[in-house]
Amino acid sequence: MTSKREVRILLVGDPGVGKTSLILSLVSEEFPDEVPAKAEEITIPADVTPERVPTHIVDYSSQEQDEDILQEEMAKSNVICIIYSVDDEDSIERITSFWLPYIRTHLGEEHKVPVILVGNKCDLMDFSTEEIMRPIMNDFAEVETCVECSARTLKNISELFYYAQKAVLHPTAAVYNSEEKE
Ligand code: GTP
Repeated sequence: MTSKREVRILLVGDPGVGKTSLILSLVSEEFPDEVPAKAEEITIPADVTPERVPTHIVDYSSQEQDEDILQEEMAKSNVICIIYSVDDEDSIERITSFWLPYIRTHLGEEHKVPVILVGNKCDLMDFSTEEIMRPIMNDFAEVETCVECSARTLKNISELFYYAQKAVLHPTAAVYNSEEKE
């Protein structure tokens, strides 16, 4: 379906994984040394997005916002990015122990909101978490894709937001998952 007239991207994930930094890095094209707890909602005009669709990017901060707001934002979003930090095993473990089940609880077990798993801070590690993400993609059909990036070096930052747009406008999860599961 290419009929969506705008895309709303929500970033969730454990405290300190770099959600706010990712958004500010995208906008300013440089790593912010100091970040507020939460970035203001950002709207990227259609003509500077790869898919030519106005795109809203929404940060969530458990320090500043309560769960009601998180649930409201989840219900409004077209795609949810679960951010983890590649150097923080707890944040990886929480993808399956908390975030994916939490999204299902609030959007429905069969919800159709695509999810992207985003491993931030890849500048700190020289190995990939892809092998850890692959089984998660198989178990949770809503996971559209995974990407590793760094708000610090800007690696894959514009790609991340492009994948999020693409997941809404040209979803492929069903195809990928049926191939993988056999
Ligand atoms: P909460 O507001 O607590 O939910 O945190 P957050 O997920 O928004 O993380 P935030 O952007 O505040 O970043 C947390 C810390 O990680 C800060 O000290 C950032 O400078 C650091 N950080 C963020 N991204 C990167 C990255 O790509 N590489 C490295 N090395 N540090 C990063």
